[in-house]
Amino acid sequence: MRGKFITLEGPEGSGKSTQAKMIIRRLAERGIEAITTREPGGTALGEEIRNILQHNQAGEAPCERAELLLFEASRNQLVEKVIRPHLEKGIWVICDRFMDSTTAYQGYGRGLPVQAVKAIHYFTVDGVVPDLTLLLDIEVSTGFERIAQRYLALGESADRFEQEERSFHEKVRAGYLKLANEEPERFRVINAAQEPEAVSSNIWKVIEEVLTEDR
Ligand SMILES: Nc1ncnc2c1ncn2[C@@H]1O[C@H](COP(=O)(O)OP(=O)(O)O)[C@@H](O)[C@H]1O
Ligand SMILES: [Mg+2]
Repeated sequence: MRGKFITLEGPEGSGKSTQAKMIIRRLAERGIEAITTREPGGTALGEEIRNILQHNQAGEAPCERAELLLFEASRNQLVEKVIRPHLEKGIWVICDRFMDSTTAYQGYGRGLPVQAVKAIHYFTVDGVVPDLTLLLDIEVSTGFERIAQRYLALGESADRFEQEERSFHEKVRAGYLKLANEEPERFRVINAAQEPEAVSSNIWKVIEEVLTEDR
């Protein structure tokens, strides 16, 4: 049987990376083999693209449509090298950001035409669409308070997206909620403002639904 493909979406600091690890742990307890990966990145080529996109490694910021296409290039590589082969072997894939991030950030955030952006995703993913997308919703300010603490703890600094102004991130959050509203079958909105364990158990309830339903 094909593995399930679950994506985690949401604004900066909403807890995607934290929850991805918790999902893997709970699946392992049930004897379900799963891997986690992230976007952009997750392959050698994808990680190179990630450095260009997030840390301006090329020395100049990509133009808006170039940015979109770099994300799509990283995504296609991840789909073909990692996601599709694992799903075909029956292994679940938990992806920290996927195509909806691009719709939210480059479409709603930057203002590129959303329908065109979505059409490009379907070309890029070539049939590998998430079975379930968990939108970790949080107030922009709460998310940023969390990542400020992460910087202190890990000595990291803000990437090119995290440096965008507040209004950009508000558009991203609203865009995500719109997407969830448009595709209620695929999306579940999770209140990410609670304690990590509470968020995790809400997520697990949704995943158990997916486990029992034959989607
Ligand atoms: N539910 C939560 N409540 C409080 N802090 C959290 C919660 N989930 C994650 N964090 C912390 O907030 C920061 C951002 O979480 P992270 O999982 O990296 O978010 P994201 O991957 O969505 O940017 C981390 O320092 C993490 O430990
Ligand atoms: Mg993260």
